[in-house]
Amino acid sequence: MEVVILAAGKGTRMNSSIPKVLHSIGGKAMLAHAIDAAIELEGNLIHVVVGYGAKKIEDYCEEYLPDAPLSFVVQSEQLGTGHAVQQAIPSLTSVDDTNTVLVLYGDVPLIQAQTLENLLTKASIDSVAILTAFSEDPTGLGRIIRNEQGDISAIVEEKDATEAQKAIKEFNTGIMALPAGKLAGWLECLSNDNSQGEYYLTDVVEMAVEDGCSVESLPLLDEIEAQGVNDKIQLALLERYYQNRIAGYLLSSGVTIRDPNRLDIRGEIAYGTDVEIDINVVLEGTVRIGNNVKIGPNVVIKDSVINDDVEILAGSNIDGAEISAGCKIGPTARLRPGTKLARNVKIGNFVEIKNSHFGEGSKANHLAYIGDATIGSGVNIGAGTIFCNYDGVNKHASTVGDNCFIGSNSVIIAPVDIEKNSFIAAGSAINRNVDENQLSISRGKQRNIDGWKRPAKKP
Ligand code: UD1
Ligand code: CA
Repeated sequence: MEVVILAAGKGTRMNSSIPKVLHSIGGKAMLAHAIDAAIELEGNLIHVVVGYGAKKIEDYCEEYLPDAPLSFVVQSEQLGTGHAVQQAIPSLTSVDDTNTVLVLYGDVPLIQAQTLENLLTKASIDSVAILTAFSEDPTGLGRIIRNEQGDISAIVEEKDATEAQKAIKEFNTGIMALPAGKLAGWLECLSNDNSQGEYYLTDVVEMAVEDGCSVESLPLLDEIEAQGVNDKIQLALLERYYQNRIAGYLLSSGVTIRDPNRLDIRGEIAYGTDVEIDINVVLEGTVRIGNNVKIGPNVVIKDSVINDDVEILAGSNIDGAEISAGCKIGPTARLRPGTKLARNVKIGNFVEIKNSHFGEGSKANHLAYIGDATIGSGVNIGAGTIFCNYDGVNKHASTVGDNCFIGSNSVIIAPVDIEKNSFIAAGSAINRNVDENQLSISRGKQRNIDGWKRPAKKP
C-alpha cells in the first residue's frame, strides 16, 4: 500500500500567503495530520503532490516530520485531482495491482487511521473502495451514483450533475483506495471534457465498473472526519472539533477539565492521574504533566515538564521549564526557557525567571526578575529583586548559595557570587562577591533632618 496525498492547491479562499495545507489545526499543519494518519497504517511510501508553495511545504515537512517516509511530487499546473494522482504514478514503488494506492487530501485533517484501515480492507486487486458520507446539503461535492442493485456506477461532480443527481445526499469524500496497476491505466484514459475542464480522479470509477471491478463504499458515520478546509471559517470549525476530540480522550482517561470548550492543546501531552485543568488553558508543544497537578485558569504552558503535586495558579505563563514535585507557581508568574526548579519551590506573582536554577524550597514570592542565576536551596528572594544580568552588550551569570536571604528591592549586578547563609539588606545594589555568613548592605545612608518645612502653595 502506498499513499498519495493531494496538496497542490493554492487555497485561494484562505486569503493567505501560506499554502493551504500548512494552516494548522491543534498547532500542527493540516498536511501533517494527514501524514500522521498515513504513517499509522502499514504502508510504504507517502507521496505528497505539491504545487503552490511547494518549497514551503517541503521545508515544513523536513523540519517537523524528518522521519516520515515522504516523497514529493510536483504538479506544476493544477489540472485536476486525476492529473494530480497521475503525477505520483512514476514514483510508486510498484505499479502492480497487488499494490494499493490510498488517495488522501492534504486539507482534510481530521481523518482517522482506523477509518482508513477499514477502507483499505475493502480495496483489492479488482476492487476500488471509496469513502463516502451523507449530507442534507452536499452542494459542491461529487455525488455517488448507484444502479438499481445499489452498486456504485459513477461519481458525478456538482457542476456536471443533473437536477436529479444533485438531489442525491451521498457524496464522495475524495478519499479512495485503488489497485495501482489498473489506476495507472485508467488515469491515462482520463479526459478533461467536462464543465470545469479538469482531469477528474472521480472519472476512474466508471472505468473501474467497465473493467469489471467492484466499487465498494465505506460510508462515514461522522462526516466531519472527511470535511475539507477551504476557508478560515472551516478551519476554525475543525479546530474546535479537533480540540473536543482531544478533550474527550483526556476526560475519558481521568483528567478533570472544567470546560472542555475552553481548553486548547497544540501539541503532544503526557499526564498522570488526578490532573485538574481549569478554564482557558493552552498547552503547546511537548508538555509532560505528573500526578495530582492543578492548573489554574488562563495558564499557558509550552514545552515543559511539570512533576507531581505541582500547583500552577491563574494567569501563569510557562515555557521551556522543568518544575519538580511540590512547587507552587503563580498567580501570574512567567517562567522562560532554561528555568529549572527543584522540589517545593514557590514562585509568586509577577516573578519572571529565565535560564535559572532554583534549589529545593527556595522562594521568590513577589515582583522579581531572576535571569542567568543559580540559586541554592532554602533561599528567599525578596519582593522587587532584580538580577541585572545584561550590561547592554553581554549577559552575565550570578550564583546565590544555600539559605541566603536577599532583601527586598535589591539589585544583583552580574557577574556576582553570593555565598551561602549570607544576608543582603533590603535596597542593596550588589556588584561584588559576598562571603559565607556575611551581611551585605549597599545603599545610601538614611539621614533624618529636623525642622523640615514642607513646600506650601503660594498665596
Ligand atoms: C473533489 C472531488 C469531489 C469530492 C470533493 C470532496 C474530484 C474531481 N472531485 O472535488 O468528488 O466530493 O473533492 O472535497 O476529484 N488538488 C491538487 N491538484 C489538482 C486539483 C486538486 O493537488 O490539480 C488537491 C487540492 O489541493 C485539494 C484536493 O486535491 O486538496 C481536492 O481538490 P478540490 O479542487 O478541492 O476538489 P473538489 O472540486 O472540491
Ligand atoms: Ca475542496
